[in-house]
Amino acid sequence: MKAKYVWNNGKLVPWERAQVHVMSHALHYGTSVFEGIRAYEIGDNAAILCCREHYERLLFSCKVARIPSPLSIGQWLEITTETLRANGQRSAYIRPLVYRGTGETLGLDARQCPTEALLATMPWGAYLGEKALLQGVDVQVSSWRRNGPGATSTLAKIGGQYINGQAIVMEAHENGMSEGIALDGNGFVSEGSGENVFLAHKNEIFTPSLASSILNGITRNCVIRIARDLGYTVTETSIPREMLYLADEIFFTGTAVEICPVRSVDRMPVGTGVRGPVTKAIQDQYFGIVRGTHADKWNWLTMVPVPARDGVRS
Ligand SMILES: Cc1ncc(COP(=O)(O)O)c(C=O)c1O
Repeated sequence: MKAKYVWNNGKLVPWERAQVHVMSHALHYGTSVFEGIRAYEIGDNAAILCCREHYERLLFSCKVARIPSPLSIGQWLEITTETLRANGQRSAYIRPLVYRGTGETLGLDARQCPTEALLATMPWGAYLGEKALLQGVDVQVSSWRRNGPGATSTLAKIGGQYINGQAIVMEAHENGMSEGIALDGNGFVSEGSGENVFLAHKNEIFTPSLASSILNGITRNCVIRIARDLGYTVTETSIPREMLYLADEIFFTGTAVEICPVRSVDRMPVGTGVRGPVTKAIQDQYFGIVRGTHADKWNWLTMVPVPARDGVRS
């Protein structure tokens, strides 16, 4: 997880020198907003997936957290290109982050603290492992609930909120599982610590609606598009926990996790316990587009030519 340069407050600096002050508001209270974006190598290009949608969501998160973005969407796109090129990366995980730095007091109202921004690009393979994409992962229903409506904004990617996801994933790891699925405040299925959830039952697809304390995932929206294009019915609705035990197939979606089958929930096999045909059909389309073997028919990819740099490639 390292690259040569990080874009830090207006300039590219060596990775080791990209530092923050210990009294930064963000360090004490989680006062940051961020995105996770992927670029895939297609020929000599970094093909950035849904770049604009990610920066639109970043600016939305800034608005909710009252941390103004110092950059416009166009400027974010420019520095993304600049940083990938400087690092010679065609395939990368891209992390823009806006946070509150050091102010005069440690009061909770951070608006007197300066706004800082950074963008890092780093190599990152399959989030839950290459094997998981084929064989699926074992998960548990978390004992932790997602943050309830009106408490925090799950639609925004705000740093401090991720303590909830950390509790979910650490509990799962302690129990020998790859991931946890949290329920919302009403006991309906919400999402994983960093992934949205889909279920297939009798050839129909279901996913929790935005009212179930989920992040409005960009991969989720791509998958809904692909699935409908393949002729499946996709319903966004409240999903009772037992549907996880009834489903023929379950899969996670997310920029990091991509599209990953779930093979068991609470030690009970999902369907036949192997990746099912619906999951595979959607994976084939998604990976076909990001790897350049299928047409990018919805214009999801932004192509950035990246010359190989000092042999540094992700
Ligand atoms: C809590 C949470 N849910 C879902 C997702 C998936 O969202 P996306 O597909 O936009 O990466 C993420 C990742 O950003 C996340 O952090």
